[in-house]
Amino acid sequence: MIPPLFLEPKPEDYVLDMCAAPGSKTTQIAQLMKNKGAIIANDVSLKRISSLGFNLQLCGVINTAVTMFDGRKLPSIIKDHFDKVLVDAPCSSSGHFLSKFPSNFTEERVKSLHVLQRGLLIAGFKMLKPGGILVYSTCSIHPFENEAVVNYLLSKEGKARVEYFEIKGIRFHPGLTEYKEKTFHPDLKYCMRIYPHDNYTDAFFIARIRKER
Ligand SMILES: C[S@@+](CC[C@H](N)C(=O)[O-])C[C@H]1O[C@@H](n2cnc3c(N)ncnc32)[C@H](O)[C@@H]1O
Repeated sequence: MIPPLFLEPKPEDYVLDMCAAPGSKTTQIAQLMKNKGAIIANDVSLKRISSLGFNLQLCGVINTAVTMFDGRKLPSIIKDHFDKVLVDAPCSSSGHFLSKFPSNFTEERVKSLHVLQRGLLIAGFKMLKPGGILVYSTCSIHPFENEAVVNYLLSKEGKARVEYFEIKGIRFHPGLTEYKEKTFHPDLKYCMRIYPHDNYTDAFFIARIRKER
């Protein structure tokens, strides 16, 4: 529930939820927007999109259009367009400590997810209006799926800035600025790491990124 709060969607906004299914965050975003403005809820998986459509209907969401694209290809259709973009990326789910820890977790899987996550984040940033906000989130604690992905964006896009943001009552830790032999951009400390022992939740990573004008 935290990424939509980081996004601060307003009723007049035009929002892209790039990896939206099954829609727990899309429905929350629609509520925060008072069912106004417009949301594009995209996902690459047809199977998961049927749950998304069901949940939108269940919650009475009427400001959202559903699309099915590989998010990495969307910038060929849309550029510099959205006030807000959420990239709630596919991940290894290595933050699932209280719920079920993934049985298919391997370093190889993390490496291939890292490449996909980089592609999705870069695509999401390209579709953001100047001055707009992108939120990147995962339910993984692995730095390769989190800080390393945001670090890649900062190295490629001169107008990307990580912004500090916090939510009252949520205990969190700053993002990492180094991991093993790697050093990340110092602004990575402005990301939020949520650990199970702090709030009795699964672990989560959230970065709020602004596109400078
Ligand atoms: C963490 S889940 C999203 C959960 C969702 N945001 C929610 O709160 O209910 C990640 C989603 O990314 C989708 N996905 C994976 N690869 C994608 C791609 N290339 N383009 C768009 N969506 C993708 C998956 O199908 C999956 O539904």
